[in-house]
Amino acid sequence: MSELSTTTHSPVAAIILAAGKSTRMKSSVAKPLHTICGDTMASHVIRACRLAGVQRIVMIVGHQSDNVIAALSGEGIEFAVQTEQKGTANAVQAAEELLGDWPGDIITLAADTPLLTADSVSALIQLRNTTTAPMAMLTARLDNPTGYGRVIRNENGTVNRIVEETDASPAEKLCNECNPSLYAFLGNYLWPALRLIGNSNAKGEYYLTDLVEIFSRQNKPVVAQPVADVDEVIGVNSQQDLAAAGAVMRRRLLNRLMAAGTVIVDPASTYVDIDVEVGQDSTIEPFCVLLRGTRIGNGCVIGPYTRIEQSKLGNDVRALASWISYSTLEDGTKIGPYSQLRPGSHLAAGVRVGNFVEVKNSTLGASSQASHLSYIGDAIIGSGVNIGAGTITCNYDGYFKHQTVVGDNAFIGSHSTLIAPVTVGSGAFVAAGSPITGDIPEDSMVIARQRAIVKEDWARAYRIKKRAEKELKSAKR
Ligand code: UD1
Ligand code: CA
Repeated sequence: MSELSTTTHSPVAAIILAAGKSTRMKSSVAKPLHTICGDTMASHVIRACRLAGVQRIVMIVGHQSDNVIAALSGEGIEFAVQTEQKGTANAVQAAEELLGDWPGDIITLAADTPLLTADSVSALIQLRNTTTAPMAMLTARLDNPTGYGRVIRNENGTVNRIVEETDASPAEKLCNECNPSLYAFLGNYLWPALRLIGNSNAKGEYYLTDLVEIFSRQNKPVVAQPVADVDEVIGVNSQQDLAAAGAVMRRRLLNRLMAAGTVIVDPASTYVDIDVEVGQDSTIEPFCVLLRGTRIGNGCVIGPYTRIEQSKLGNDVRALASWISYSTLEDGTKIGPYSQLRPGSHLAAGVRVGNFVEVKNSTLGASSQASHLSYIGDAIIGSGVNIGAGTITCNYDGYFKHQTVVGDNAFIGSHSTLIAPVTVGSGAFVAAGSPITGDIPEDSMVIARQRAIVKEDWARAYRIKKRAEKELKSAKR
């Protein structure tokens, strides 16, 4: 996740394998499109390549290719279709039409390793470039190597071959140096070598791993280097793997925020997406979910129990147990507990939105407040306005939405209904309990409710009468 980019080598193209079926996900969604921390696994791998300076990216698609291409069409990558899944070597071959005369290096990766960092991609590229070897690869020493191809080295440390688990001898299975499928090739060596691969193995597939043996036989060394952090090569093959990878990525993102001065009270219960930004001395209380596009300034206190999506919060904002989406909160605003800002809400500096208030597509001017139990939809509220408890904008007539405008320093008494389209002039005073159906002039007072009728002694007479009736009834029994 570092922002590093290496430039001291020949141009690099990447082939990302994403054609496989992945039955173990038990999902109708293609595996590369499953998301962690707000982005698809495929996009995480693409990002690592880009940050490492890879110039061209070709993704090999097959299973659900239309969906995968449609979902990733904005990524600026190219696609090649592998019509039948005949193995990883066959998959790479599908890119030959596009990259057959690529002048530099070609790296190959899988779309299901979302934790791979740009640093490791760079390390792989550097490793290939610091030797004359036609092939370089990263390896991982795993406590439990089950399921991985094993890396069998020569005495001089170069790689002799990679043996798939299904083809490995008991002795080879004991080897815990694993193949995470991260290779770099000199482009003009890759394509001819691929043609030499056969499929006489346990699965009857064309294995990309056979390239190692092919180069070894040609006395061309294959160099290998362990990855810095084995977490990076975790392959996602099941929902359990997806959740585990998400936890690792989240922890990385939280560490990055903490390193920059954000207080994360409980990392275990804090959920952040990849592009979340939080300023210095801001505190994220437990049980917060900060989704894509969340930008939080300095000195804020968020949560506990707050969910924010695609929203910008200024400095010194307090957001307690509330949901905020596609909205802007300027400096010093306060919201919650238990309120919701729906898309298009804009709270100017110092606005206070209290509990059980819903705001949608509305602007509240500086220092205005709606402290309790309100619905403010499609409204433009000026500054210094007080919205009393239970005020409702009636913005919908069953067919169309209408706008409410409230001028600066107006006072909206509790339990008023503002039936849009309607304008309350600045400085106007709306008496509590008033349904407002027409425009109210500036600095006026409006009261729109029936005058109370008071009948003195009525209640006393009522009680006397009812008690007498009751006594008469029980005397009869
Ligand atoms: C592969 C490696 C193994 C390594 C492991 C790491 C081979 C022969 N084996 O095994 O040494 O330890 O990855 O995870 O390469 N794919 C295609 N088309 C195909 C087959 C696969 O695009 O015809 C894609 C898959 O979608 C996946 C990737 O290639 O993204 C890896 O394929 P997979 O079948 O998972 O290989 P493994 O058996 O895991
Ligand atoms: Ca795999």
